[in-house]
Amino acid sequence: MKSIKFIQFLAITALLLAGCKEETAQQEAGAQEAGGLKDAYKDAFYIGAAINADQINEADPKAAALLLKEFNSITPENHMKWMHIQPGPDSFDFALPDKFVALGEKHGMNIVGHTLVWHSQLAPFVEQIKDAAEMEAALTKHINTIVGRYKGRVNGWDVVNEALNEDGTLRETPFLKTMGEGYLEKAFKLAAAADPEAELYYNDYNIEQPAKRAGCIAMIKKLQAAGVKIDGVGIQGHWSIAGLPYEDIEKSVEEFSALGLKVHFTEVDITMLPNPWDLKGAEVNQNFPGSPYMNPYPDSLPVAKQEEQAVAYQRLFELLLKHRDKVERVTFWGIGDGNSWLNGWPIKDRTNYPLLFDRNFEPKPAYNSVMELKVKP
Ligand code: XIL
Repeated sequence: MKSIKFIQFLAITALLLAGCKEETAQQEAGAQEAGGLKDAYKDAFYIGAAINADQINEADPKAAALLLKEFNSITPENHMKWMHIQPGPDSFDFALPDKFVALGEKHGMNIVGHTLVWHSQLAPFVEQIKDAAEMEAALTKHINTIVGRYKGRVNGWDVVNEALNEDGTLRETPFLKTMGEGYLEKAFKLAAAADPEAELYYNDYNIEQPAKRAGCIAMIKKLQAAGVKIDGVGIQGHWSIAGLPYEDIEKSVEEFSALGLKVHFTEVDITMLPNPWDLKGAEVNQNFPGSPYMNPYPDSLPVAKQEEQAVAYQRLFELLLKHRDKVERVTFWGIGDGNSWLNGWPIKDRTNYPLLFDRNFEPKPAYNSVMELKVKP
């Protein structure tokens, strides 16, 4: 009897242990399957992040691990801009751009080059050019050298950034002033010749807004009529919790896609701080004085505000999922709140909370709300 009981005891223990083991294995598999944003959205679009110098250098192991877990596309936040990559007529600095491209390649990520032709963060020598031929020569050297260097390695380029005013007319940039509107066609044609395989984009903020959108569509149609290869349009997506333009976003996706272009959301963030001038967009040269009123959450974002942001992000992603056949990529302008440029713009030294991860690179309610959406294969 005793020995039968003992055998029964052993059998039950063995069964229980086997059960536990199975559960652990299932949990582990579940955790692996759960993956990150990039996995949840793998059948819909790329999930990207802009990365800064520290992140290119993989200086913070937590940020580096998060980048790989959550994102499958990268954009350099600053280091491919003209003033950094070509500070002088004959001086190029490829140290960080090379590392950036190598990082993306190492991890099989989609690599975006940002940006070839932009009036901000321009090298001073280009600002001083007053003559069309000289500007064309500068543009040719810049694009040929940079796009040529990364030929076959960068998947797509923001060829022209922010060429439009809010009313849809062309912005008075050093390029427009010297070369006239032909600079747009020239830039795209140079990029296409330097790397015929790379995708080419026009990128701007507020182009979901009606007047600027109409100007953008007219500009793209002109370029297409001139035989220019343009593959996508980048809607930057610097929005405010005061109100995301959902309807205009939807119309923009439809209208840009009707031009035969893929739509990319290239610099998404949602500022949580006051903006009493009703400033819209992302003109990086604007700056305003600070005050405690302008910086209401120096220590942490109240729970109600976190929830409000989670709802806004969820509604945005619902909309983008609805148009997943037209949307190619959604890139956030930074990884964690602590890295965001919105801590310093348009007022210096504020504490902002625009992204899905907090200052410790931990997921926020907004992350969960985006992850919760069911992405069907
Ligand atoms: C911003 C960077 O995030 C900042 O670090 C820099 O000081 C200014 O530029 N539109 C763009 C981006 O296309 O390149 C800008 O990035 C934000 C607005």
